[in-house]
Amino acid sequence: MCGIVGYIGPQDATPIILDGLRRLEYRGYDSAGIAVLEGDKIEIRRDEGKLDKLIALVDEEPLHGQIGIGHTRWATHGEPSARNAHPHVGTSGTVVLAHNGIVENYQELREELSAEGVEFNSDTDTEVIVQLVDRYLSLEMSFVEAAQKTLSHLKGAHGVVLFSTKETDKIVTARIGNAGGVVVGFGEGEMFIASDMPAILEHTRQMVFLESGQIGVVQQDGLQVLTLDGKPVSYNKQTVPWDPVAAEKGEYRHFMHKEMHEQVRSLTDTIAGRVDFDNGRVFLPQLNLAPPVAQRINKMFITACGTASHAGMVGKTLIEHIARLPVEVDIASEFRYRNPILDENSAVLAISQSGETADTLAAMEEAKQKNAILWSIVNVIGSQAMRISDGYISMQTGPEIGVASTKAYTAPLVDLYMLAILLADLRGTLESNERRALVADLRLIPDLAGRCLDREAEVQEIAWELKDFSHCLYLGRGINMPTAYEGALKLKEISYIHAEGYPAGEMKHGPIALIDEDMPIVVIAPRDPWYGKMFSQIEQAKARGGIVIAVATEGDEVIPTIADHVLWVPPTPWMLSPVTTVIPLQLLAYHIAALRGLDVDQPRNLAKSVTVE
Ligand code: AGP
Repeated sequence: MCGIVGYIGPQDATPIILDGLRRLEYRGYDSAGIAVLEGDKIEIRRDEGKLDKLIALVDEEPLHGQIGIGHTRWATHGEPSARNAHPHVGTSGTVVLAHNGIVENYQELREELSAEGVEFNSDTDTEVIVQLVDRYLSLEMSFVEAAQKTLSHLKGAHGVVLFSTKETDKIVTARIGNAGGVVVGFGEGEMFIASDMPAILEHTRQMVFLESGQIGVVQQDGLQVLTLDGKPVSYNKQTVPWDPVAAEKGEYRHFMHKEMHEQVRSLTDTIAGRVDFDNGRVFLPQLNLAPPVAQRINKMFITACGTASHAGMVGKTLIEHIARLPVEVDIASEFRYRNPILDENSAVLAISQSGETADTLAAMEEAKQKNAILWSIVNVIGSQAMRISDGYISMQTGPEIGVASTKAYTAPLVDLYMLAILLADLRGTLESNERRALVADLRLIPDLAGRCLDREAEVQEIAWELKDFSHCLYLGRGINMPTAYEGALKLKEISYIHAEGYPAGEMKHGPIALIDEDMPIVVIAPRDPWYGKMFSQIEQAKARGGIVIAVATEGDEVIPTIADHVLWVPPTPWMLSPVTTVIPLQLLAYHIAALRGLDVDQPRNLAKSVTVE
């Protein structure tokens, strides 16, 4: 997903923009650029490759000014190259623009503009936007009107930022649909724009998140928000609770490593203020869940992508077991197109760390159109998913920068556990002593996670054993079947080893054919209700020469006699066991990827939030 940064104020824009782009690197990109108004001229530096290359270019040919925009590009139309890197300037040289998203009707617009004599300088869809603004500026429209007129032509989802030599007191920005956010930061006599908060957190925590269909006119002393047809709209400034340090690596080599070790804190924070241990109750006030609503819901649909969908699978077991409410889990990219059977008694719960994932947002829109009750579990304050929900649960993990999600996987597991208890409490499906016992178990979780992390050195040793394999099978059952899926996703997305999560009971229906000495198998076998069923999986794998790495509960004396390696976890209440069983798998994937010398935080082809279909 592309990154956008803008600045207008008394300082030199160049270092502010470059530093902001640096803080967006985790989003994944293949080229970068910056444009600054120097005197009355637009200066641009841009190139394919990483930010260091752009910084070297700027060092060679400095550019300075008090208004500027920057961009990191994740190529969609046109290969990564200097000519396709943003920002793009119009033919007249009076307007420059950076863009996040896809212009779905760019061919038609390109042909229309070419027929008018416009010569394109790139293969991008983005260039049609800046050439349209150029056209309208030449018709003597104001800069804002030219931008409005242009945006009305565009199909698809967009985040844009642009400035012009014709009106040098403003930057225009806009958001259409869900191509990632646009956030405007308020400084003292200066203003900041970004596609994501970490880019500007060190300058301000006063922020406004543009809604879809809004234009922001950003001047040194403030912001005006308009609809696409020019009507002023009010907005509320939010104070973001994240501090700049949280978005830094600190002494860690990778954000992912830091974030795995933050799980004791993030799990503490996700419970904090939501549990009355004395009376055995949980509170999720942002969900806006009244008893009559809880009682009339007859089915829940959990929808998400990737890691978040694995959390949803655990949520199904928790909510069905504790609240006795039927739950269906749907990958968002399927849910949005399968015409799901929903009505006002359906609850749709979307899970999304970024709150900006296009497929998940589209699934949420589907739910709204069918009058379902719409909730979300999200991490990014002010994200689109949070804003369009009837109620939400904040993951409260602080910024998660590493592309491979870790703390934003374990936090929603606890959120789902608390949601199940709350639903059961409001629906009267839980005796108070049962409820008290379930609530009491929450107190254990941060320490249990810490004990898993304390065993990192043991995991590193096993990583050495596995780092050169090309395939790996993960098997789990029941509440830990999703743990197998999540463990496999972690390994494949950062180490590029082909890994597959599978229901353990399904192994004999096919995957067992894969097993030989070149196919290590990770078997998740903690002391949960499915424990007794895991022995045969391990023995079947061993009988075929497979190397078995078992996740087992401390004190287990059987598993070590049949598995080649053991990843120990502390005794954990089974309904919370996916929180502990996943941590050694996170660590295993991380250390294998690190041993393979790979870019753990920015794996190839991946982005932190996938805002395109
Ligand atoms: C997680 O490790 C992956 N990077 C990816 O599957 C991610 O979980 C998915 O894209 C959903 O992102 P979201 O939670 O921000 O919606």
